[in-house]
Amino acid sequence: MTTNQRRPVYTGDIAEQQIDPSQEYSTENQEIDFSSEQHAIWADLFTGVNQPYLMEHICQEYKDGLALLDLDPYQIPTVAHLNDHISPRTGWRIERTVVRYTPADEWYQKFAQRIFLITDYLRTRDQMEFTPEPDMFHDIFGHLPYLTMDFYARIEDKFAPAYLKATQEEREVIKRLAWYSTEFGLVMEDNRFKIFGAGIISGRAELANAIMEFYRLSRDTVIDFTGNVFEQLNEHFLSRKDDLYRVIDGVNDLHRRGQMSSQDEGWNVVHSLFETLGVERAGYFGGDVILAPFDVATIAHIPKTVYAFNPIFFVCESFEQMDALLDSYLKPISRRN
Ligand SMILES: [Fe+2]
Repeated sequence: MTTNQRRPVYTGDIAEQQIDPSQEYSTENQEIDFSSEQHAIWADLFTGVNQPYLMEHICQEYKDGLALLDLDPYQIPTVAHLNDHISPRTGWRIERTVVRYTPADEWYQKFAQRIFLITDYLRTRDQMEFTPEPDMFHDIFGHLPYLTMDFYARIEDKFAPAYLKATQEEREVIKRLAWYSTEFGLVMEDNRFKIFGAGIISGRAELANAIMEFYRLSRDTVIDFTGNVFEQLNEHFLSRKDDLYRVIDGVNDLHRRGQMSSQDEGWNVVHSLFETLGVERAGYFGGDVILAPFDVATIAHIPKTVYAFNPIFFVCESFEQMDALLDSYLKPISRRN
């Protein structure tokens, strides 16, 4: 049997994990003696992304935060290092967990205490390009540079107060809003699309694919850079909403059948979906990832899918707009008695 055949089929649902509570890290015991191979994997992942031709497509706030976090490209950081660089700046704290994917209820209980959990699991060598399961490289390299910064702490601060008061149905929407902002969001910077989400930054295949899409949109002159790019994206979204919703429903169906869980399958099956639906592969529908403006109603329509490729990314016009759109859904819930 090959390694591929042994891999589970990821359907987007989180598998039950058998966790031995006695293995969980205590407050006093947060550090791990990593093997030299684990440090080497970290170094290859770090340098794989930390390249000028990739970093130029990532938003400036990430790069500022990465400098503030002062990570060693060759060594997995200690929790003490992370906390020394994060807590004095934003009041957030990092805690290690043996849980590989923390369920949302526990996740947001920690968030309410301004605790960001990082898993103790690091991907293996055969998952350097793409891992459907977020690992500690994702948690640390993808998210934590931002947690040195007030604007990000403010965004993260919004979720728990709403989640803890939300109905079950609203909780599903809140998870999706987090997914398509802090995990897979884009933001405009100098009239260009820039990558913001930790899931894209920490996943070389998704990062490369997003960047290739930026190039394609330019090459195919989908974008007129002499005008306001975000407005053009918005116009496309408003005029093609029906098609976009059909694609989203089709992608949801592919997820349910476990067909979005590998790099090979992910975008290839989406391409054939366009054919099945009769949606022409041109303009913003012509590449490997669909871009659309961050829109609460549309995001609420997509089940949050983990363990899978994301064929659609949402773009905010600015972080102020992201703030306002998240507040529009989260604040009324947070204010309930
Ligand atoms: Fe994440």
